[in-house]
Amino acid sequence: MRVAVCISGRGSNLRALLEAFPPGDEAQVVLVLSNRAEAPGLEHARGLGIPTAVLTDPANGDEWLTTLDRYAVELIVLAGYVRLVPGPVIARYRGRIINIHPALLPRFGGPGMYGRRVHQAVLASGVSESGATVHLVDEVYDRGDILAQDRVPVRPSDTPETLAARVLEVEHRLLPAVVRAAARAGRAVPLAEPLERLP
Ligand code: GRF
Repeated sequence: MRVAVCISGRGSNLRALLEAFPPGDEAQVVLVLSNRAEAPGLEHARGLGIPTAVLTDPANGDEWLTTLDRYAVELIVLAGYVRLVPGPVIARYRGRIINIHPALLPRFGGPGMYGRRVHQAVLASGVSESGATVHLVDEVYDRGDILAQDRVPVRPSDTPETLAARVLEVEHRLLPAVVRAAARAGRAVPLAEPLERLP
């Protein structure tokens, strides 16, 4: 399955995908797309010879679709992509566009809920667990069908940073697992197996 990964920054989930899917594997990252030319993840992709593209207008659906067509992309993975994906892209890739969110949706999501703010909200709520969610992307922020979740404990001593680090470890296993399941099914599907039992 030909995968485009969309990023806005660091790109640690992109790295996890690239490590999980070496050349010849059943999913291949064929394009890394960003709204920011200076996103550090782009440099990493270029170093591995993976095509990258920086959107001149991230709100322009035609620009997205032309770029995705050029690389015959079959699955779009939003991995730390912070802008809204244009409606025509969501419509064309319905069921084949997924996002990773660093909390247990449906709580702690929605517009403006990204980065440190997510973990701050989790800590402020007093819940004893957080985690990562991979979900389908539709027209409403963080509201598409949930495909997979994994949990981590919230500790009394946690800061947003320590909690983010614990969640990120889970993200790096969860996202490749969902992409592998999608590659096998030909579309994004809920994860059938608990994470520990996946190869
Ligand atoms: C991750 O926590 C992801 O869940 C969220 O943005 C962050 C991106 O981190 N959507 P990275 O760029 O993959 O390191």
